[in-house]
Amino acid sequence: MSMAVLHSVQAQDNKVLRASMNKVRLEFTLDDKGQPTYSVYYGDKTVIKPSEMGFTLANDSAFDKHFIVTGSETSSVDENWKPVWGEVSTIRNHYNQVTVHLKQKNSPNRLMNIIFRVFEDGVGFRYEFPRQPNLRYFIVSDELTSFSLAGDNKTFWIPGDYDSNEYLYTTSKISEIDNLPVVTASTAIAVRVAPDRYSVQTPLMMKSPDGLYINIHEAALVDFSSMQLHVDRSALKLTAALVPDAVGNKAYVHAPFKTPWRTIIVSDKATDILASKLILNLNEPSKIKDASWIKPMKFVGVWWEMQTGKGTWSYANDADTLDANGQLIPNGTHSANTANVKRYIDFASANGIPGVLVEGWNTGWEDWFGFWKEHVFSFVTPYPDFDVDGITKYAASKNVKLIMHNETSGSAMDYERQMDTSYRFMNKYGYTSVKTGYVGKIIPRGEHHDGQWMVNHYIRVAQKTADYHIMVDMHEPVRPTGLQRTYPNWLACEAGRGNEYNAFSDGNTPEHETIMPFTRFMGGPMDYTPGIFKIKGYTTVPNRQIHTTLAKQLALYLVLYSPLQMAADMPENYEKHMDAFQFVKDVAVDWDDTKILEAEPGEYITTARKAKGTSNWFIGAVTNANSRSSVISLDFLDKGQKYVATIYADADNADWHDNPEAYQIAKYLVTDKTKLALKLAKGGGAAISITLATADDKGLKMYK
Ligand code: NOJ
Ligand code: CA
Repeated sequence: MSMAVLHSVQAQDNKVLRASMNKVRLEFTLDDKGQPTYSVYYGDKTVIKPSEMGFTLANDSAFDKHFIVTGSETSSVDENWKPVWGEVSTIRNHYNQVTVHLKQKNSPNRLMNIIFRVFEDGVGFRYEFPRQPNLRYFIVSDELTSFSLAGDNKTFWIPGDYDSNEYLYTTSKISEIDNLPVVTASTAIAVRVAPDRYSVQTPLMMKSPDGLYINIHEAALVDFSSMQLHVDRSALKLTAALVPDAVGNKAYVHAPFKTPWRTIIVSDKATDILASKLILNLNEPSKIKDASWIKPMKFVGVWWEMQTGKGTWSYANDADTLDANGQLIPNGTHSANTANVKRYIDFASANGIPGVLVEGWNTGWEDWFGFWKEHVFSFVTPYPDFDVDGITKYAASKNVKLIMHNETSGSAMDYERQMDTSYRFMNKYGYTSVKTGYVGKIIPRGEHHDGQWMVNHYIRVAQKTADYHIMVDMHEPVRPTGLQRTYPNWLACEAGRGNEYNAFSDGNTPEHETIMPFTRFMGGPMDYTPGIFKIKGYTTVPNRQIHTTLAKQLALYLVLYSPLQMAADMPENYEKHMDAFQFVKDVAVDWDDTKILEAEPGEYITTARKAKGTSNWFIGAVTNANSRSSVISLDFLDKGQKYVATIYADADNADWHDNPEAYQIAKYLVTDKTKLALKLAKGGGAAISITLATADDKGLKMYK
């Protein structure tokens, strides 16, 4: 391994400063205008050509040029740390760091530092504004960080929308990016605000013409607005586009301050991108000292039946239709009623699923979003047909945990007023986790889901839930940037287009789940809600269907990593396929090890994971709309040990569109010498569980 080559820089301009790790190389210099520029290389290939850095501050104050370098320091770190939960039990944090101290030559001689960390799979850098007399409180009007690409990369992108990440990915060259048609067509998304048609969201996944896989994102997004990217299609250049606040400012800063890290992950292997821990490594260690109450888990929920129109979240059809006593007139379709909730508790308990989510249990759903109302929900008032005392006792008697639901419909102000009350209510009734949601336009009015105010709001929620020992899963927040390391009670986010879009829109394409791990999941776990078994034939949403086979829904438990995984379908749909549901019962949600066996964005992913504290392995393989055959080696199994592999595969005649629920289950003995041949249908997948063989398995055939 080639260690860092670090040249220190004197107080002089135009000198090049370098840092490297294995094939990744970073160069920094000031250009002839005194503007900081950096470039990134992988072996002999250019990842990022010399690209500008800096800011403009409010009142047109340029904070990008006329710099001199006043000094620099280098350091190296090689350490291991253990996440509270995760894809692997130990993470190596190995980088070479260089800090550049900059000062503007012209008055008021402001100071800025840039910190670069070079890892073997990429680069992270952040700006630091040190304490200084002439830059104390300031407003960022633009960040000028740019990423000049070396070629017209193939790109997997969603629009740079200030309020939503719930788009389908478009695959195009950089020079072809135009989000306007996508935004216009995406009518199923509640709030769409994408004023720049040439802007994209991060994590942005690219493949260069010379075969490099490049991912641009950010890490540790704290007290700053999120970074989207403006695309200069002819120059093949991306520039940071920070999400503005209600009056158009990008960020309010009080020095000393450090910005989030800008990240560039790069490799010539797609599998390395998925295995990267660079973003987690750039986040601060856990702030939660005693994490023993934080528990990854699977859950079912009173949920899909509302998504597919069988029932409603609301108790009445209309907030203004009241009886003579001023009470809501029930609509008779309210799903979160005591008897129905008990049915889910029974199913969870009978199948060893630890949690039950109940949505629509609290008052407010009659006019929950679309009116920009400030006070919508009570988070402590059940509807009359939800017997919170009885249900709590019933769940406890069945050894099931209830999961709270706090939909805010975007009224974050109102949620902040109710948070303590809500979390005390959860503590009282024994709810140990909450799913929040932000469907609708944000209040404070004019703020955006991805702006600085909301970024801080989500962190306040993570902190306050932690104070009450509550785990949290946020829907419609800003996309994650690795903060789950710092707040491990923040188990998952949605912040992407989940399975639910198959119920209320034209749905997700068969390639969607082969792109998501390279994009949305780079920042952290997603509550994608896999495990829909009834793929089509919903009378309430007749033209809708899941765009996968049933076997692929199983594979998603591996390919889409989350410590919180829903078994999203209804009990009655699972009861028709209990042999396949066995996989959902068995699959783990916390892991000692992970191997990305094969991957190509937009095409296929095969992931193997070793369940925490056991010898059991689970494998998931997914493909896009094309069928696929591949052979995977089980050489990661312990040598000389016999295992039983249970293979849940697409049936020979399965097809996501015409025959999606056809699957076959087979059991074999396997060893580390086994090469498994996988056959995936169009839009299909395969899921495999591997456990140690016992005396009872003698009758099984060895896999050939
Ligand atoms: C959107 C969320 O993604 C979904 O899971 C939830 O059921 C609805 N909002 C209602 O809160
Ligand atoms: Ca959503």
